[in-house]
Amino acid sequence: MSRSAHPAGPRHADVLPEGHYTAPPADLNSLDPRVWAQTVERTPEGAVAVGGLDVRRLAEEFGTPAYVMDETDFRARCRAWRDAFGPDADVYYAGKAFLSRAVVRWLHEEGLNLDVCSGGELATALDAGMPAERIALHGNNKSDEEIERAVEAGVGRIVLDSFQEIARVAHTAARLGRRQPVQIRVTVGVEAHTHEFIATAHEDQKFGLALAGGGSSGAGEGPAAEAVRRVLMLDSLELTGIHSHIGSQIFDMAGFEVSARRVVGLLTRVRDEHGVELPEIDLGGGLGIAYTPEDDPREPHEIAKALGDIVTRECEAAGLAVPRLSVEPGRAIAGPTAFTLYEVGTLKELEGLRTYVSVDGGMSDNIRTALYDAEYSVALVSRASAAEPMLSRVVGKHCESGDIVVRDAFLPADLAPGDLLAVPATGAYCRSMASNYNHALRPPVVAVRDGQARTIVRRETEEDLLRLDVG
Ligand code: LLP
Repeated sequence: MSRSAHPAGPRHADVLPEGHYTAPPADLNSLDPRVWAQTVERTPEGAVAVGGLDVRRLAEEFGTPAYVMDETDFRARCRAWRDAFGPDADVYYAGKAFLSRAVVRWLHEEGLNLDVCSGGELATALDAGMPAERIALHGNNKSDEEIERAVEAGVGRIVLDSFQEIARVAHTAARLGRRQPVQIRVTVGVEAHTHEFIATAHEDQKFGLALAGGGSSGAGEGPAAEAVRRVLMLDSLELTGIHSHIGSQIFDMAGFEVSARRVVGLLTRVRDEHGVELPEIDLGGGLGIAYTPEDDPREPHEIAKALGDIVTRECEAAGLAVPRLSVEPGRAIAGPTAFTLYEVGTLKELEGLRTYVSVDGGMSDNIRTALYDAEYSVALVSRASAAEPMLSRVVGKHCESGDIVVRDAFLPADLAPGDLLAVPATGAYCRSMASNYNHALRPPVVAVRDGQARTIVRRETEEDLLRLDVG
């Protein structure tokens, strides 16, 4: 996603290197509400506060780097999704985005369900008191232990992902004397990315069972139809619906439209072939968020309306009763609610290029830039500055040149060691994908609400690292 260069008047303006940047913002101190959590503001003193707490105080109390999560915003997003979809639909938060006991409690209190995709996520959900019937278990290679634990706990939904799994879940449920509600995950031949979707050949992936097999609905004689047949024959499984997830960080609803149409095509086929109307459709997650002010995501009520309309239209056209819809947003709930707070260490000005600003974290707390070429924004948050914009690259402290946090950003030219920077929109897929590379200690997650801050995931210690090292 390359953007036009030639910003007006930044430092290093004579020779502008290749990069993904637009003109520097008119005011480097401004905080664009599209990328910052709801309660973030710049105080009259010049520093930034969240939930009424000055980030300098947070850095002092909790150290840096730290993920700072705006609990008010997190809960508000849960409510916005729940209210947008209403009582006839279910919102399953995708725990892979970020999960902790506190988050599970927030979800529970705000009336959301939870999608887990591993034994660890399931254990966290159950430990924190999420009712099992509000949990869905995903995964393309669930272990026997994971299946057993889920069935035993009584999870509301297991999303079946392969023929082997149909047999394994059926066997486990029969052995435990249960009838396990299941959905079948299908691949609809659509893959969506941000502003576009591609509707060809995306059955070539590890997830789900392909619908493909011809016919204009796309719901032909593929493995998905065969999976339905098999599940319907098994007494220990209750087939409740069909599941489709088409990708992540999507802004364009067209991919969902194709997906819904094809899933409804399969429901129609199931009715015609087996005389059964499946009562549920899950269209997965994947709704995009703003990482930079150039991103323009849709609001939950627009998404709910678009998806609801598509499903209703398709079902009416097919003469089907409209099934109960569910969705699984992860990033769209957690992502915008947190920023990562870093302290500036060294600065290197490369004449005619840019200034490398090193912070005290890096690819161990945010792998997304290195892995996906993701774009982020960044701001100086410990003070305001009237200095001119300086073309910068925010990098970490790891022994790797790809250790980039924010590839292209404008920061004030008077930036100095000891300043605090914050990178917004790091609530999803940052802590959950963090590593101990170079024996880095994974940062804490600090939840802030109404002038109170508390650690919900503590910082790792060297002791934690050494405890695992039993040689
Ligand atoms: N449901 C299913 C079945 C999924 O596989 C996923 C994400 C979600 C829901 C939630 O998607 P979301 O609403 O968060 O986009 N690590 C990548 C994202 C991987 C998403 C995998 N599946 C990243 O950092 O961008």
